Amino acid sequence: MQRSLKEIIKNTIIQKSKPIGFDEFMDLALYYPAKGYYSGGMQKFGEQGDFITAPETSDLFGFCLARQCTQILDGTNDILEFGAGSGVLAAQVLFELGRLGQLPKNYYILELSAELQQRQQDTIAKILPELMDRVVWLNGLPENFSGVVIANEVLDAMPAKRLIYQAGKFKELGVDCQNDALVWQTKSIYNNDKMRLPTEVTQGYITEVNERAIAWVESLSETMDKGLVLLIDYGIGREEYFHPQRGAGTLRCYYQHKASENPFVHIGKQDITTSVNFSDIAEAAERGGFEVQGYATQALFLISLGIDEYLLAEQETDKRASLAQQVKQLVLPSAMGESFKVLALVKDTQVELQGFKEQNLLHKL
Ligand SMILES: C[S@@+](CC[C@H](N)C(=O)[O-])C[C@H]1O[C@@H](n2cnc3c(N)ncnc32)[C@H](O)[C@@H]1O
Repeated sequence: MQRSLKEIIKNTIIQKSKPIGFDEFMDLALYYPAKGYYSGGMQKFGEQGDFITAPETSDLFGFCLARQCTQILDGTNDILEFGAGSGVLAAQVLFELGRLGQLPKNYYILELSAELQQRQQDTIAKILPELMDRVVWLNGLPENFSGVVIANEVLDAMPAKRLIYQAGKFKELGVDCQNDALVWQTKSIYNNDKMRLPTEVTQGYITEVNERAIAWVESLSETMDKGLVLLIDYGIGREEYFHPQRGAGTLRCYYQHKASENPFVHIGKQDITTSVNFSDIAEAAERGGFEVQGYATQALFLISLGIDEYLLAEQETDKRASLAQQVKQLVLPSAMGESFKVLALVKDTQVELQGFKEQNLLHKL
């Protein structure tokens, strides 16, 4: 008989005879081969799925990103997209770069989920069959990469550790199996010099740290020779991240467009995310030799890149009304405009990035 993902996770804990870290739980729940949320066959994105990302909302998101890429692409370098979801962002960026006559040599995609790789191939083959030969799926980081790296909502899908403040120390909150149910369980004192934590918080304060995201930035800095990295995600700087009022952490689960804080239900069928601590990411990038060039809200980044020009260029009234709704969703503070941020890292590249013309919030990192 086929075992459910919940059974697999419970057995992992029982075999280890101790609670597993929340990062290990999240890794199994999202990426366990064929059964995890991202590796299984769930719809995930869009109205029929559990949540809608920016490229699923509007083509204009990818068109603006393409405009930003043109400042770096020179006909000899490439784009590398991490976690390309349904493949729709790749199609938008390639379409607009083709229109502008500035296609990259290759459009690489690095995606953990085999199911999503297949979906990405189908999307691009359907929308842009003529550009299919430029798109290459990788199984690992390329060596000496030069060009533009894009990662939209990827850092927030990386497994994070959850911590609780008790008796003057941060301890790791793990996942245990008790009476056949998955439950939170406090583990040992958390010690990692690389991760900065607040010192003055109250008993029971909960937060997250994402060591895997830091390790990912470190390997990116090793592999990247020259160019730009654009990280777009739901997140904030350290001061806001560790605000005393955010005492229950940033963990969120999404199932059929409903948010909850319970990762132990709908296992393998719901998304699990934590907000990005952009200060941690920026500092890791600087240690790895990147210059942190820009940090802005998604709204001001898209406005700087002329999202309104695309809207005004649409001549058909009905289409323009529909585009206007999409733009609202991307830029309004009550929608994605302010909670999503864009962080830009550059290496060996002299450029004033257009996307940060209207706003640069580096002081908030
Ligand atoms: C929330 S989805 C975002 C999908 C897409 N970028 C979009 O905006 O619609 C997260 C994606 O990141 C992928 N992912 C997570 N960690 C990754 C990693 N270390 N390398 C590459 N892809 C990763 C997941 O498999 C999934 O495709």
